[in-house]
Amino acid sequence: MLTDNEIKIIKASTPALAEYGEQITGRFYQILLEKNPELKNIFNMTNQKSGNQKHALAMAVYAFSKYVDDLSVILGDVERIAQKHASLGIKAEHYPLVGSALLEAIEEILNPGEEVISAWASGYGVLANVFIEREKALYEENAKKEGGWLDTRDFTIVKMHQETPLITSFYLQPSDQGTVAAYTAGQYISVHLHPEGQEYQQIRQYSLSGAFDQKGYRISVKKELNAQGEGLVSNYLHDQYKVGDTLKVTPPCGEFVLQESTNPAVLISGGVGITPMQAMLETLTQQAQPRDIHFIHGNQNQQHQAFKTELDSLVTQGKVKAHCFYQETTAEGEHKGMIDLQKISDSLPAGAEYYICGPLAMMKAVYQQLKTLQIADDKIHYEVFGPNKSLA
Ligand code: HEM
Repeated sequence: MLTDNEIKIIKASTPALAEYGEQITGRFYQILLEKNPELKNIFNMTNQKSGNQKHALAMAVYAFSKYVDDLSVILGDVERIAQKHASLGIKAEHYPLVGSALLEAIEEILNPGEEVISAWASGYGVLANVFIEREKALYEENAKKEGGWLDTRDFTIVKMHQETPLITSFYLQPSDQGTVAAYTAGQYISVHLHPEGQEYQQIRQYSLSGAFDQKGYRISVKKELNAQGEGLVSNYLHDQYKVGDTLKVTPPCGEFVLQESTNPAVLISGGVGITPMQAMLETLTQQAQPRDIHFIHGNQNQQHQAFKTELDSLVTQGKVKAHCFYQETTAEGEHKGMIDLQKISDSLPAGAEYYICGPLAMMKAVYQQLKTLQIADDKIHYEVFGPNKSLA
C-alpha cells in the first residue's frame, strides 16, 4: 500500500515524465543491459535500436504515475503487458533488476531528491507486485491446462506452406507427440531461437493463424526486408528452417481474443495483420451457430494477401462478406486505396464487435473511422504488431 504522501509525490512527477519519459527509459535500458547483459537473451534488440520499446515503457511509467490513485484505469494495459511478459518467460527475480535500473535512470535524468526516489521505489514495488502475481497465475494456468506446459517445449515443423511471396506458414506439432493446449483465436506464441552468428538468443511472438485443430499450431511469418535490421528472425526462419526441424515454443498467450458473443463480427486487418484474423475467421465459420461475419482487408495487391483462396471459398459458401482494399487495384468490384469504412458503411452490421490488427498507422486510421461511425470503444478490440501503443 502506498501512503497518501507517496501517491501525491508520484502524481506530481507526471508532467516531468511526460517531458522526459523517453529519455528516462532510454537511459534505463542502457543501465539495465549494461549491468545484466544476459537480459539481451530476452529483450528484442531490434526494438531497442528502433526506440519502439523505449516508447512503450515510457508510456507505461507515465500512465502509472497519472493513475496511481486509481489503478483500475490501467488494468487493461496491465493484462496485455502481463500476457506479453508471460509469453516471454519474465520471472519475479527480474523485477528488482528492472526497478533498480529505472530508479537510477530517474535519479540521473530528473535528480528529484531522496523523497521522490523513495516514493517511486514504493510505487514501482506496488506495480511490480501486480505483474508478478498476474504472471504467476498465468504460468500456473498454462502449465495446468490439458496439453499445457511451463517455459518452452520443442515443436517439430511438420509442414511449410508459402502463402504469398513473403509469407510462409509453419505447421508445428509437439515433438513429444503429446497433447497440445487449446487456445482462443487471436492469441500468439513465442518462438525462441538462436540465429547463427548472433551472440544472444532471440524471442519473437507470432499470432496463431488458424482455428485450433487439436494437433498443433500454425504461425504465418512474413519475411521482413528491412535495412534497419528488422527481419533478423523472420529471415532466419524462412531461409534456415525446413520440415522436420524443431523450434522452442512457449504456451499461447494474449488478451486480444474473440469475445464470447453472438453479435456480428467485423474483422479488419492490414498486411500480415491478417494472421490473428484468419484464426478468428476460421473459428467463427466453424461454429454451429452462424454469425454475421465481415472480413475487411487492406493490402498492396491480391498477390500479397495471405489466405485469399480460403477467403474466396468462404465468400462463395455465403459464410462471410469480404471487403478488400488494394493500393494497386486489379479487378472490378475491388476497392482502390487504403481501407475506408465510409465506402462500405451501408453494409456494416449494427451491434457488431470490431477486431483490428495491422501496422500502427493503418490501425489509427481505422480507429478514427470507427469513431466517426460512432462505434463505442468497448466494441473495438485491437492488437498492434510490435511494441504496443494506445490507439485512443
Ligand atoms: C514488454 C512494461 C517489467 C521485459 C513490455 C511492454 C511494456 C512493459 C509497456 C510493451 C508491451 C507490448 O508490447 O504490448 C513493463 C513494466 C514493468 C516491466 C511497467 C515493471 C513494473 C519487466 C521486467 C522484464 C521485462 C522485470 C524482464 C527483465 C520485457 C520484455 C518485453 C516487455 C522482454 C518485450 C519487448 C521487447 O522484447 O523489447 N514491458 N515491464 N519487463 N517487457 Fe516489460
